[in-house]
Amino acid sequence: GDAGHTHDVQFSYEGPFGTFDQNQLQRGLQIYTEVCSSCHGLKFVPMRTLADEGGPALPEEQMKAYAAKFPINDELSNPQLFDKETEEYRTLKPTDNFPALYSANAPDLSLMAKARAGFHGPVGTGLSQLVNGIGGAEYIASLLTGYTGEEKEEAGTTFYENTAFPGGWIAMAPPLYGEDVEFADGHSNELHHEAEDVAAFLRWTAEPHQDARKRTGFVAVFFLVILTALLYLTNKRIWAPIK
Ligand code: HEM
Repeated sequence: GDAGHTHDVQFSYEGPFGTFDQNQLQRGLQIYTEVCSSCHGLKFVPMRTLADEGGPALPEEQMKAYAAKFPINDELSNPQLFDKETEEYRTLKPTDNFPALYSANAPDLSLMAKARAGFHGPVGTGLSQLVNGIGGAEYIASLLTGYTGEEKEEAGTTFYENTAFPGGWIAMAPPLYGEDVEFADGHSNELHHEAEDVAAFLRWTAEPHQDARKRTGFVAVFFLVILTALLYLTNKRIWAPIK
């Protein structure tokens, strides 16, 4: 059938001037926290970056409280959090990363939006990526909304049919159905909104400095344009007596 199909999503961060939508990143963080974090780690993401302006921009105190409350579901994967004096796993500090979590056999999600491509083709050339981008976040949004409801058992594992997953059958049960979380701002929690919000959040975890990089790029290009004009005029003037 239709396996490996990614639908396009218009994310706020697209285009040369696009930036992350902080409210959307906060909603995505909430979905990750309440749903995905029971199986998936985010081991490359430092807690303190949740307060970054180019990210979810949580107020400093809220970020600290979030870190301190975050559960360590997989102690063996996080020996760095073991306190030899108290002989207990300590709570997370802003300088800690999210804990690693491998006991559920689910891949770490920190870089997933960069590890997957949503847009391919035509005929394997990857040309559509020039126009549409790589499509990692679109792939995640499509995956979360791509369940058909069909399941099968194979070698003791349940597989779920999914139109976005290459091969068509994934070992992850549908994590979202819609109305899985309540947003404080009353934003829609329909399935496709939740899927896009958590996909945008995972795009940020994979590309945390994107907004600053785009700003720097703009300033650099602006400067080069001015410099080009000045050099052109200078060149004309220097050579004027000789020509
Ligand atoms: C795989 C996202 C919740 C278990 C994946 C993949 C993504 C993902 C992007 C990789 C798919 C690929 O390889 O292309 C999410 C998100 C979640 C979520 C955004 C929350 C909304 C969960 C939960 C569980 C889970 C709650 C466990 C109950 C797994 C497993 C895999 C997986 C076992 C590997 C599947 C396979 O390779 O067949 N997930 N997940 N996920 N996830 Fe989740």
